[in-house]
Amino acid sequence: MALLLAIESSCDETAVAIVRGSAGRTAEVLASEVSSQIELHREHGGVVPELASRNHSLRLRGLVGKALADTGVAMREIDAFAATSGPGLASSLLIGSTAAKGMACAMNRPFLAINHLEGHLLSPFLDRTSVPPHIALIVSGGHTLLLDVEGSGRYRRLGGTRDDAAGEAFDKVGKMLGLAYPGGPEIEKAARGGNPKAYDFPRSMLGDAHLDFSFSGLKTAVLYTLQRAEGMVCVTDLAASFQQAVIDILVGKTLRAARQTGRSMIGLSGGVSLNRALRDAFHDACGKSGHEFVTAAPDFCTDNAAMIAFAALLRHLAGECSPLGEDIHPNLPLV
Ligand code: KG4
Ligand code: ZN
Repeated sequence: MALLLAIESSCDETAVAIVRGSAGRTAEVLASEVSSQIELHREHGGVVPELASRNHSLRLRGLVGKALADTGVAMREIDAFAATSGPGLASSLLIGSTAAKGMACAMNRPFLAINHLEGHLLSPFLDRTSVPPHIALIVSGGHTLLLDVEGSGRYRRLGGTRDDAAGEAFDKVGKMLGLAYPGGPEIEKAARGGNPKAYDFPRSMLGDAHLDFSFSGLKTAVLYTLQRAEGMVCVTDLAASFQQAVIDILVGKTLRAARQTGRSMIGLSGGVSLNRALRDAFHDACGKSGHEFVTAAPDFCTDNAAMIAFAALLRHLAGECSPLGEDIHPNLPLV
């Protein structure tokens, strides 16, 4: 059995988790602490990097202490320490990474630098013993990525966004509609009861054979609709129509990827996967096409350290570790 402690601080959530597991056995998340900075950044309409890093540094020590105290685990029992090393905001990544390296160094244990996107990708499988072959769609504030997954650590990029990420589109349209930051959950709330067919928004690139995405045309179409109507729109219908366009694009492209590769399972992860309408649409579409659909538990959709600890556990059990001199990488690609 190995005990791993991981820190996630790539953007505006400070998170610490402890997981326990061994090869071939289901991993257990013993603690998953997340301290959100959303309120702090809300008045600025987006994440302010310096505020984020200062708060990571203020909150981290308390969160590590709480995770250890709540689980009754002593620091000396931890077998390896991990942190997100990228992609993300440089000043935020540095706080978590430096803290994890410091603990690894002090306790004379290995350190693991983890790719944030690998954490998201693995999050639907936290309660499994292994990562089965599947098509992975990661939809977050900074990324929209479609991958062919053979197993843990074996990924092939199939497509990604050519402009805005799906979550970024939600956030920008939320802003246009005068909704609070972040726009994703606010649009989901606003769309409830709305008519998703009220506005005929474009499904860019949906009919194309390639597996890339584009959301900037959709975002601009929403802007023009608002300008033409001089703000006199039904926000509920507009939010529902926008959300439906994003869903159609994401579901359509992912099923195309599954058909092209012959994979029988689809895994959905990242902050946008918290969206109920998106989860339901994937569920229905996969039910019809005969694909198995897996997604992360709601607590593990948005940024958290359990997914980082799980990714680190799999790498630790495979005998991997990172040098203490490992730098952070704000633009780290997954493949
Ligand atoms: O994965 P995440 O926490 O952070 C990144 O790695 O970016 O994702 C945050 C993104 C934001 O763009 C947020 O608006 C979006 O996830 N999001 C949602 C919902 N909840 C969060 N988008 C749509 N519907 C939601 N319910
Ligand atoms: Zn994320």
